[in-house]
Amino acid sequence: MKKLLIFTFSLITSLSLASGFDPLDPYANITVTWDFLQQSESTSDVKVSIYNFQQFRHVDRPGWKLGWRWQGDEVIWNMWGAEAIYQGNCSRFKGAPERPHCCEMEPVIIDLLPGTPFNKQFSNCCKGGELSSMVQDSSKFLSAFRMNVGAFSNNSTNINMPDNFTLGLPGYTCGPPVQVQPTKTSQDGRRWTETLETWNVTCMYSQFRASPSPKCCVSLSSFYNSTIAKCPRCSCGCQGLPGAKCVKPGDELQLPGERETEEPSPLVTCTRHMCPIGIHWHVKESYKEYWRVKITITNYNFVKNYSDWTLVVQHPNLQSLTQLFSFNYHPLGQFGNINDTGMFWGIKYYNDMLLSTGKNGNVQTEMVLHKDEGVFTFREGWTFPRRISFNGDECVMPSPDEYPRLPNRAHRAAASRPSIVVFTSLLILAAL
Ligand SMILES: *[C@@H]1O[C@H](CO)[C@@H](O)[C@H](O)[C@H]1NC(C)=O
Ligand SMILES: *[C@@H]1O[C@H](CO)[C@@H](O)[C@H](O)[C@H]1NC(C)=O
Ligand SMILES: *[C@@H]1O[C@H](CO)[C@@H](O)[C@H](O)[C@H]1NC(C)=O
Ligand SMILES: *[C@@H]1O[C@H](CO)[C@@H](O)[C@H](O)[C@H]1NC(C)=O
Ligand SMILES: *[C@@H]1O[C@H](CO)[C@@H](O)[C@H](O)[C@H]1NC(C)=O
Ligand SMILES: *[C@@H]1O[C@H](CO)[C@@H](O)[C@H](O)[C@H]1NC(C)=O
Ligand SMILES: *[C@@H]1O[C@H](CO)[C@@H](O)[C@H](O)[C@H]1NC(C)=O
Ligand SMILES: *[C@@H]1O[C@H](CO)[C@@H](O)[C@H](O)[C@H]1NC(C)=O
Ligand SMILES: *[C@@H]1O[C@H](CO)[C@@H](O)[C@H](O)[C@H]1NC(C)=O
Repeated sequence: MKKLLIFTFSLITSLSLASGFDPLDPYANITVTWDFLQQSESTSDVKVSIYNFQQFRHVDRPGWKLGWRWQGDEVIWNMWGAEAIYQGNCSRFKGAPERPHCCEMEPVIIDLLPGTPFNKQFSNCCKGGELSSMVQDSSKFLSAFRMNVGAFSNNSTNINMPDNFTLGLPGYTCGPPVQVQPTKTSQDGRRWTETLETWNVTCMYSQFRASPSPKCCVSLSSFYNSTIAKCPRCSCGCQGLPGAKCVKPGDELQLPGERETEEPSPLVTCTRHMCPIGIHWHVKESYKEYWRVKITITNYNFVKNYSDWTLVVQHPNLQSLTQLFSFNYHPLGQFGNINDTGMFWGIKYYNDMLLSTGKNGNVQTEMVLHKDEGVFTFREGWTFPRRISFNGDECVMPSPDEYPRLPNRAHRAAASRPSIVVFTSLLILAAL
């Protein structure tokens, strides 16, 4: 029966992943808003904004790369706050006093880097394409740039809305542009100008589209049993299979340069699970009314520092989280009836960056939870998480048969007299 339940649960999870729907963040999307600001005789001024409307999935370096397809022979004359990767073939403008910024029919635009000269900036630009999740920093979930668009045939002032938008991020697909109520826009928050036309493009994420294999796995341990439920073998890949590269101690490493525009594919330490990220959940201690969990996130990837990482955990006791060390926390699903799920992330300048393995990369937290009466139990793996995701991607859990179990004799003792454990740990503390 339990097996069946778990099977159904994972089936539901996979189905929801396939369609990109996540009950924890049902409205999750990235919206691209395209504002036609004004039109002169031969050119249009356009403002493009990219909003990350996702609770716990952020956009990390190397960042978004916004692409679209022009309907006619439009060219981008100038741009502020972003730039096209390629200028393209502008030879048609030979002899013109100024060459356009980009003549590609399918331009790809990237954000500028922090520290860009002021005259090339635009408000909310220049973050290297990074977008924060809404929970982590609701002031940094927006990127914007402005451009001046013209058409090659200089008698056509009619610039059409382009189509076929892409974000250049794995796993995201964008719908067609939809014309919406024009918005007023402002560069500085003081003066507001009318917009001629506004279009929205909605882009959705799907883990299956992003990567066929998972990117993280979970291992479990407890103070009451020395068994460790390890990350399942081949969670993210198998050693020895074709295409599976990994690094053994002493191997020479070829690390990519700093300013790559593509994210390097993971180069992991050789492990049984071959995942770039491992999460360890340790049930550490039991007090009279509380219990303590330690969570460790380890980076096994040599080629990536995970900045602004997030961890989403589902556990029925999270609603009684009493004390948390070294991480930030925010409960999720307040819009629905979910109250057992929350999001953890690092503290700025302290552990918001999960360094690559080469730098001994891991981050840790401990949390104290209240033993809710009639619900709490050490039996049947209740103290272990139901689901964990890292940076918005679901992690592989061990099989429930492998969970460390309460020793049979100790069932009653541990359940009814946890104060013994407190007593011993106090003794240990005193001995230190
Ligand atoms: C995109 O997210 C915003 C903000 O959460 C939401 O209002 C909007 O309905 C979402 N769009 C879609 C198509 O889900
Ligand atoms: C269009 O996107 C903006 C955010 O850029 C959002 O506020 C607005 O609700 C969206 N409109 C529709 C109809 O989805
Ligand atoms: C650039 O476009 C012109 C026509 O506009 C064409 O004659 C020329 O071959 C193109 N050059 C390249 C390198 O594609
Ligand atoms: C643009 O207009 C000028 C003068 O009106 C004309 O000489 C030129 O051929 C036009 N260019 C194109 C590409 O149509
Ligand atoms: C430009 O104007 C000429 C003459 O009015 C017309 O034949 C041509 O189709 C126009 N080009 C475009 C792209 O609208
Ligand atoms: C561009 O989008 C249109 C409709 O949105 C679609 O029919 C077409 O196949 C797309 N083209 C490409 C190259 O993706
Ligand atoms: C990760 O960060 C460390 C310390 O800032 C740096 O030395 C290292 O080169 C970075 N590694 C990668 C892969 O970016
Ligand atoms: C959490 O949800 C469960 C089931 O929906 C409910 O029984 C419980 O009372 C809720 N707890 C809180 C603190 O809202
Ligand atoms: C510890 O847990 C394992 C796995 O569930 C179980 O096989 C074993 O019997 C437990 N150890 C003790 C001492 O109960």
